[in-house]
Amino acid sequence: MSKTATLTIDGNSYEFPIKVGTENEIAIDINSLRSSTSGIITIDPGFKNTGSCESAITFLDGEKGILRYRGYAIEELAEKADFLEVAYLLIFGELPTAETLAKFHSDIKAQSHVDEDVKKIIDGFPKSAHPMGVLSSLTSALVAFNPSSVNVDSEEEMYNAIVRILGKFPVLTAWAYRKRAGLPLDYGDDSLGYVENFLKMMFKKPSGEFTSNPVVVDAMDKLLILHADHEQNCSTSTVRMVGSSHAGLFVSISAGIAALWGPLHGGANQAVIEMLEAIKEDGGDTKKYMAKAKDKKDPFRLMGFGHRVYKNFDPRAKIIKKAADSVLSDLGVEDPVLDIAKGLEKEALEDSYFVDRKLYPNVDFYSGIMYRAMGIPVEMFTPMFALGRLPGWIAQWREMRLKKEPIGRPRQVYIGENQRSFKKISDR
Ligand code: CMC
Repeated sequence: MSKTATLTIDGNSYEFPIKVGTENEIAIDINSLRSSTSGIITIDPGFKNTGSCESAITFLDGEKGILRYRGYAIEELAEKADFLEVAYLLIFGELPTAETLAKFHSDIKAQSHVDEDVKKIIDGFPKSAHPMGVLSSLTSALVAFNPSSVNVDSEEEMYNAIVRILGKFPVLTAWAYRKRAGLPLDYGDDSLGYVENFLKMMFKKPSGEFTSNPVVVDAMDKLLILHADHEQNCSTSTVRMVGSSHAGLFVSISAGIAALWGPLHGGANQAVIEMLEAIKEDGGDTKKYMAKAKDKKDPFRLMGFGHRVYKNFDPRAKIIKKAADSVLSDLGVEDPVLDIAKGLEKEALEDSYFVDRKLYPNVDFYSGIMYRAMGIPVEMFTPMFALGRLPGWIAQWREMRLKKEPIGRPRQVYIGENQRSFKKISDR
């Protein structure tokens, strides 16, 4: 591999260094493009060909269906690790020892309360508010209650900010649900594990004790691990972009939640189950919906299908599909939409439209079916994604700040009017 790339414009040649990642990904470093060519830039809407940073957190190979956090295969982590272990790995780069993990968990627990005044903010939301909007607002509001800015050069301050958000975020997520469900806002129980405690905060009824189901706890743990990071996706890029202006961790994450909400990103998990339900209500005719998805005049897309990077299969979808079968059978749940989902997948994998465009089920295709079997209501699916993605956002924000990356500020190619004279309103 040559060490430079040559660009020729109007007979002038410019050399740019080639960067090679640890997995042999190759990038042309165009850092000096504008200065050396007096103003020429590249354009790449949707950043389909643009690396925004160098990162040591997550590797994914979309052609081979590989996903690794800090070098560890997602399949192995989903099977052998728990969510907090993975969170520590993503954020700090190495698997924790038993002692470090215990301290990490205890430091998080010490932060698992939010100011009572946050309840007044929640009171102000209508019950019908989507929990993603509530969660984004509350995460931003946390800044008002924890105003000190983080000195990112201090390892201790950085660590404290990280355990603070990891402690408070599950409380806010559970409260966003409880408000909607008309349940009193409640704290969990510090004697429980992170995931078990979250489930208690969600589901404990005022009139009874909460008993956790180990099948549900394990399944939730696995789902959170599978969502924990996915390199420079839309919400993570948002977190890095907002943080690059030196905005704090909490507001950067609040912006990431807003980005995740969209149906083309995390909001797809809610959209999938709504789509499957609609197909069921419509008599279960999957062929009709396949035809709609292929019809370019119809805005309908097969939700939970396709991915910007995975062009072979999404390894997370494979794990979730397998887990969905066993969780539903362990919980004794029969969900007719699981059969519809499997039917759609089978048809799509044999259909040239999907095959040619390399469209495969993504992480969101089966996750909603699992969430529903576990008693999570549909509008909470995307907040669950946010809870899982939290360590990834933190890790990426931390990496960006520690590497002292410059403020994110893309260029554009202006295609508007050239200079013209102002016309008085009476002359228009
Ligand atoms: N149903 C029907 N056609 C599709 C779909 C779909 N789900 N996804 C892509 N296509 C078609 C698209 O119309 C285009 O066709 P053509 O080349 O004829 O114009 C081609 O496939 C390429 O699509 P694209 O929109 O240019 O691809 P992208 O990389 O910009 O978008 C995507 C990726 C995930 C936004 C898109 O596949 C999609 O909208 N999927 C449905 C929403 C979804 O499931 N999102 C969750 C993504 S995974 C979780 C996460 O990371 O948040």
